[in-house]
Amino acid sequence: VRNARPDDDDDTRFMRLALALGERGRCSAPPNPWVGCVLVRDGRVVGQGYHRRAGEPHAESWALAAAGARARGATAYVTLEPCAHVGRTPPCVDGLIAAGVARVVVGVLDPDPRVAGRGLDILRRAAIETIVGVCSSEAAASLAPYLHQRRTGRAYCVLKAAISLDGRTAAADGSARWITGPLARADVHVLRNQSQAVVVGAGTALADLPALTVRDVEVPPERQPLRVLLDGRGRVAPRGPLFDLQLGPTLVITTADADPATHDAWLASGADVEVVPAAPGVGVDLAAALLALGRRGVLQALVEGGPTAAGAFLRGGLVDRVVLYVGARTLGEAGRPLFAGPGPTTMAEAGCWRLLGAQQMGDDTRLEYAPLIAVAEEALV
Ligand SMILES: NC(=O)c1ccc[n+]([C@@H]2O[C@H](COP(=O)([O-])OP(=O)(O)OC[C@H]3O[C@@H](n4cnc5c(N)ncnc54)[C@H](OP(=O)(O)O)[C@@H]3O)[C@@H](O)[C@H]2O)c1
Repeated sequence: VRNARPDDDDDTRFMRLALALGERGRCSAPPNPWVGCVLVRDGRVVGQGYHRRAGEPHAESWALAAAGARARGATAYVTLEPCAHVGRTPPCVDGLIAAGVARVVVGVLDPDPRVAGRGLDILRRAAIETIVGVCSSEAAASLAPYLHQRRTGRAYCVLKAAISLDGRTAAADGSARWITGPLARADVHVLRNQSQAVVVGAGTALADLPALTVRDVEVPPERQPLRVLLDGRGRVAPRGPLFDLQLGPTLVITTADADPATHDAWLASGADVEVVPAAPGVGVDLAAALLALGRRGVLQALVEGGPTAAGAFLRGGLVDRVVLYVGARTLGEAGRPLFAGPGPTTMAEAGCWRLLGAQQMGDDTRLEYAPLIAVAEEALV
């Protein structure tokens, strides 16, 4: 295995193509990773593919099928280490070896314990040249939710909020519709479509009666994301769109403290219920909640608030991304904050974030942040 050299221009170019292909599967491939693959011989692309959905062929299989005999002696560019285990499809390493591929270039290693370097070992033993780490930070960024879920067991937590120009998430009376305009609200549906779960606290469920479904996206999802209610005490009765199971599946994450009658009513409504330990203060243990979602195959969970839940995720160090839609409204100091609850009292204790992107959406702005620590860790992959 040799490490990538920064001057391997062709490798970079073809890996970027593989990454772009992989992105096509972002909404449909989970719980599997959205991998892309490009096969190149004599400087020309002879096959390409991406993983569309779990149970269907992996990216490498599509690319090999497209290339046919031209795969012999070719270089395969794969965004994630090829799998070495039999799942619903045969191991990709076997296909690459059988096709006579000469060289395999990988973006990032697969932390899944069934692969974790074994894929590369098998290729190397078959005398295939292997190179790891081409466009590694781009590959790690693209596959961040998958890599995180496989490394920690927890769903990758994207916290989304609409805030006013002065940083408020609701007016003093609790109303929050609408802080942002139609472009920003449409973008939220894209974000939901990329997530396998959409999560709210009990306060938001009671105040807003949200549906939490994906609507009005270019390609409607085959499956709606899991709609998740965090309700430690059983305050939310199974009524309204969140418990209309025609709209999508619903999971209530609760604790043993919840009223048994409410627990039974949730189940009777057709919702799924998961009991996790209680958090020391209020509600459910959020790390346990994210682990429960990870076990259910959720790679990315979109936490849509409200401020009490958002503050608790933040203090728990569980937020992997923040997506803010800053609306052109001012709500004044009586409005609700973005993160409720105690926070730092000095600048020395301030949470540190890195801005990943900023986009104008009509009169609103979309801002995306990652915790500084996570950015540094991803760069090390
Ligand atoms: N602008 C926006 O983007 C946006 C988004 C969402 C909501 N909102 C607004 O926010 C307001 C509602 O927010 P909210 O702060 O009152 O309620 P919330 O954050 O939606 O829900 C808080 C509740 O969630 C439950 N919970 C379960 N586990 C928790 C934990 N570990 N930590 C904290 N809470 C946990 C608790 O209820 P139990 O004690 O029953 O467990 C808690 O009281 C509404 O006015 C809504 O319109 C705005």
